[in-house]
Amino acid sequence: MEFLSWTEHVLVSLLLAALVRLAVTEGWQGVLRAVLVVLRYVPGIGELINWIIHMMALQFAPQLTGGSASSKKDKKPPRVALPKKGLSCDDILQEMKKLQKEKDTDPHAGKMFAYVYTLQDDASKVQKEAVDMFMEQTGLGDHHDRFVREVFQSFIHTNVLNPFVFPALRRFEIETVSMVASFLHGDDQVVGSLTSGGTESILMAVKTYRDRARKLCPQITQPEMVAPITIHPAFEKAASYFCVKMVHVPVGPDFRADVTAMEQAITGNTILLCASAPQYPHGVVDPISDISAMALRRKLPLHVDACFGGFMLPWIEKLGYPVPTFDFRNPGVTSMSADIHKYGYSVKGASVILYKSTDYWRYQLFSYSGWPGGLFGSCSMAGSRPGGNIAAAWAVMKALGEDGYMKTAKDVMETTEFMINSIRNIPGLCILGEPHMTAFAIGSRGINILALADEMESKGWRMERIQDPNGLHCSVMPSHTKVRQKFVEDLRTAAEYVKIHKKASEEGASMAYGLAGKVPDKSLVDDFIKELYMEFYTKC
Ligand SMILES: Cc1ncc(COP(=O)(O)O)c(C=O)c1O
Repeated sequence: MEFLSWTEHVLVSLLLAALVRLAVTEGWQGVLRAVLVVLRYVPGIGELINWIIHMMALQFAPQLTGGSASSKKDKKPPRVALPKKGLSCDDILQEMKKLQKEKDTDPHAGKMFAYVYTLQDDASKVQKEAVDMFMEQTGLGDHHDRFVREVFQSFIHTNVLNPFVFPALRRFEIETVSMVASFLHGDDQVVGSLTSGGTESILMAVKTYRDRARKLCPQITQPEMVAPITIHPAFEKAASYFCVKMVHVPVGPDFRADVTAMEQAITGNTILLCASAPQYPHGVVDPISDISAMALRRKLPLHVDACFGGFMLPWIEKLGYPVPTFDFRNPGVTSMSADIHKYGYSVKGASVILYKSTDYWRYQLFSYSGWPGGLFGSCSMAGSRPGGNIAAAWAVMKALGEDGYMKTAKDVMETTEFMINSIRNIPGLCILGEPHMTAFAIGSRGINILALADEMESKGWRMERIQDPNGLHCSVMPSHTKVRQKFVEDLRTAAEYVKIHKKASEEGASMAYGLAGKVPDKSLVDDFIKELYMEFYTKC
């Protein structure tokens, strides 16, 4: 072997020794496994193996879904847009029941051996009544709530853990993702899935970018993400769950992300930028076009959290209100989250996570082929996923259609404007920032805003306190239209009372906020919050 250099001799000998050792300890199977693992890292061969796996999946999937093998490479189901005009509830229910009957195995028929655990009739009846009693009222009226309940009840015992077991639900999920992607201006490449809510969508996004960075930038061992301080705590939760460091940057006096500060916070470890449309506390949309341009320049992915605004901003933009371009129209936006259980008016437990393409989404997926219980795959945090939420989300979107969402957005936006304008005229109060949609924060001009919250609560209102600066957050909903006049009257009276009596905050939540504001070490406040939770969950 004269053609090998001295170092190559050593390397080849070590490799042969390792292979012989593997053959002795694990047999030829072990050697084959090791060779395949190594081959996947060889340029060209790795791609070829991935292509073969992809083609096998293409051929195999139709056998699981009951379709025929596709001859066309990468054939995608056609994009489904939100209907321009809402469909009739009866037609939707009929279509759903037909699909369910034709495609899904009846969970009560005793023919399944996993996924669904049902008792016989009596318990189901109690459960049905409990759902009727405690299911939320969306504020869109009795008719809407009854319809959502009926859909939810029809699919209550279905489970989308395995997307091939309930084909009707698989279709509802794919179409729901497609409808959301289309009104958020995603192109045909945009993909995603449903999750249980905004937090799960955000958790998935952070996990996705962490795993992508592990693959594409293995030199990064301590990944970081950069976000304005107003970003939802779900990102902080994701940071702590997935060991990604959160780098918060301050916002400007308008409460919008400071793009320069974000760029300055980027380091060699940054794997993700995040922004909100809008952020929860003050209802303002971050300057997403600028952040998107910066993300492109710095070659970093950008997640836009539209959990709150994804189902509201598109309609108010169409109504002519000024809305910053917040969605996939910005070329640097690589993923978005939008909650159907907020302004989508479906039941709790429904959000969409969308990615610009499968190049990102693939890192969200989890698979494990070594379990004696079977080949396991999952697309989000949850294992079992309640089908009722997915069915309800699809049905609500079809029933409302674009015209239904526009009409509601118009009403809620008018109520918001009425409230904001009235509050600006109440001495001692102001609006923090310039809200872009149907949420705002009331700030103080010289009165104790936490005492104001207490005073309002004594009149029966349930107030949401925010901090830095102290304020009161209001998300406006359809149910507020009928009480908007009373709300501003009570606010005016309460503000006068607090001002004259120089009231201090002295009740439960306000007192906690008041104290928290004075504690310099926030970790003490964090411990206090955990203690409170332990109290709540250990006492009846
Ligand atoms: C902007 C924003 N993102 C994420 C979330 C989290 O959503 P969820 O409570 O559904 O987990 C919220 C909730 O209010 C939100 O306002």
